[in-house]
Amino acid sequence: RTILFAASECTPFMKTGGLADVIGSLPRALEKERGTEVRVILPLYEEMDAEWKDQLEKVADFTVPVGWRNQPASLHRLDHDGVTHYFIRNEFYFGRQGVYGYFDDGERYVFFSRAVIEALPLLDRDIDILHAHDWQTGLAVAFANIMRTDIRTVFTIHNIQYQGWMTHEAFSDLMNIGLEHFAGLEWHGMINCMKAALFHADKITTVSPSYAEEIKQPYYSEGLDSILNDRAVDLIGIINGIDTDEYNPQKDPYIYAPYTSSRAKKRENKRFLQRELCLTEDPDVPMYAVVSRLVEQKGFHLLERILEEFLQENVQVVMLGTGDYAFEQSFAYFANKYPNKMSLQLKFSEAAARQIYAASDFFIMPSKFEPCGLSQLISLQYKTIPIVRETGGLRDTVHPFNEVTGEGNGFSFANYNAHELLYAMRYSLLAYHREDLFKPLLKNVNKSRFSWKDSAKLYNGVYAELVPS
Ligand code: GLC
Repeated sequence: RTILFAASECTPFMKTGGLADVIGSLPRALEKERGTEVRVILPLYEEMDAEWKDQLEKVADFTVPVGWRNQPASLHRLDHDGVTHYFIRNEFYFGRQGVYGYFDDGERYVFFSRAVIEALPLLDRDIDILHAHDWQTGLAVAFANIMRTDIRTVFTIHNIQYQGWMTHEAFSDLMNIGLEHFAGLEWHGMINCMKAALFHADKITTVSPSYAEEIKQPYYSEGLDSILNDRAVDLIGIINGIDTDEYNPQKDPYIYAPYTSSRAKKRENKRFLQRELCLTEDPDVPMYAVVSRLVEQKGFHLLERILEEFLQENVQVVMLGTGDYAFEQSFAYFANKYPNKMSLQLKFSEAAARQIYAASDFFIMPSKFEPCGLSQLISLQYKTIPIVRETGGLRDTVHPFNEVTGEGNGFSFANYNAHELLYAMRYSLLAYHREDLFKPLLKNVNKSRFSWKDSAKLYNGVYAELVPS
């Protein structure tokens, strides 16, 4: 059977978040499963690196019936790392800077979703299953179900907070499908792309077992719990993996001193980073890291509340990322006040991120909600101990250290409460200074494994239920 992945981003071509990592690594793992082939289809963004643009091979021109006239489009192909990727080009919708954030984002991804359906006959293979990811491709699931009854569909929720809402005027203007289909796409009087997919998909997956349970509750569902409860038998949570070749401290080209599990080498990385960031040069001081979008989801209201108190300890805090202005400003305040102890880099850079993973002792991730989370997995790969809130994928991958049984690969807390976070951070500090605790903890960290292998099998099981090979 052949699966077509449809998504709005994919490494190494275009990335704004964890979705891109999944689309860039899961297909390769799936292709190792017997009887399954994968194709990936993406929008062709203006800003994609020339390195990739130069390799595109044009397949065909075609038209996409959206809006008051047909939109011209072209299909391009690029084989990368053993996986065939298709790109849909349209000047009007994607000939712009960046990825998201335009007033007409809804319309842009309606176009893309419809274009995926129109491109199906142009691909090198007949597609058995369309596997779409997040709201941007939600309507592709609906269109496939309405227009192509020979194709089965899977939809994966990576983050239920972003749903793709549009006014219903957009429905008749854009979509060119009969009014009888409105109900499946509608939610509270608006078009909702994610709801449309939840209504139409044959199977629904999300990126961790805990998140699959959480989104059936109002606290986490962002208003969609009733439909998810209706569809509960078709909903399954499958944990994300990471590309363990890509995230490998032994051969990471960005880091100062490559290592496997040597603590001496990790200290060299710490010293290097301290020098780079003008922090006090002392590898004995425990280093706490944040690499993240600076948004509410990631729990920064908790961190900003207790940072002053925590910085009274003999610790260092290094942060990397951009996001909400209010968070950027409040963390900048602490970095200015404690220049030898705290560093803030308001940017994103893969090199800087890898150097932080390699140098730090702890990684802070107090998310309010977290469908899966990849950073805690990367930090475990780099032998950096995660401190997390027990939610979603964080709960499924980080197990709190228990000094009686010696089990656990990190620190965690349950409630969305700043002092619970502070308590977990203080406990980690205590463990850092006690060899009898730190040693078993690191041993468990070393044993943590997050390759795609097991999860690819689970996805393949979902496909096999729809289309036996
Ligand atoms: C979204 C979620 C994150 C998840 C990623 C990939 O970015 O917020 O938790 O790891 O998608 O599935």
